[in-house]
Amino acid sequence: MINKNVAELLNAQIGHELGASQQYLAIASYFASQGLDAWGDFFFKQSDEERSHALKIVRFLLDTGTPFDFPALPSHQPHFDSALEVVEKSLSWEQEVTRSFHKMAEVALAEKDFTSFQFLQWFIEEQVEEEASIGRLVDLIRSGINLFQAEPLLSRDEH
Ligand SMILES: [Fe+2]
Ligand SMILES: [Fe+2]
Repeated sequence: MINKNVAELLNAQIGHELGASQQYLAIASYFASQGLDAWGDFFFKQSDEERSHALKIVRFLLDTGTPFDFPALPSHQPHFDSALEVVEKSLSWEQEVTRSFHKMAEVALAEKDFTSFQFLQWFIEEQVEEEASIGRLVDLIRSGINLFQAEPLLSRDEH
C-alpha cells in the first residue's frame, strides 16, 4: 500500500489527465474543422497520450491495492481565438502538470514512499518531452508561418 497523501494526489491526477485528454480533443477538433488535418492529428494523438497517462496511474493504483475513484472531469475550454492562444495555453497547462508531478514526488519522498517516488520518475521525464514538443509548436506559430505550410513540420517523435 502506498502513502495516503500520495494516493490522494495520484487519484486527483487521474482526473487531470482525463481532463487534458478531453481538452486536447477540443483542440484537435478546432484545427480539423479548419481543414488543418496535420495540426488536428497532432492533438488527437496528444489526447490519446493523456488518456494513456491516466491509465498508467490507474494500473499503478490497482497493482498497489490502492483504492481510487474517477474524479469528475474539469471543464475544458471549447473555443479559441487563434492557434497561438491554443499552443500558449497548452504549454502553460503542461507546465502546471509538471509542477503537480514535482509536488507529488516531493510528498512521496517526504513520506518515504519510495515505490510511488520511483513510479513518478516516468512522468517527470515524460513532462520534459511534453513541454518540449508543445514549446516547438509555440515557436513555429510565433514565426508567423502559414499554418497549412507548417503542416509538414509537425511530425512528432513516437514514444
Ligand atoms: Fe499527461
Ligand atoms: Fe501532457
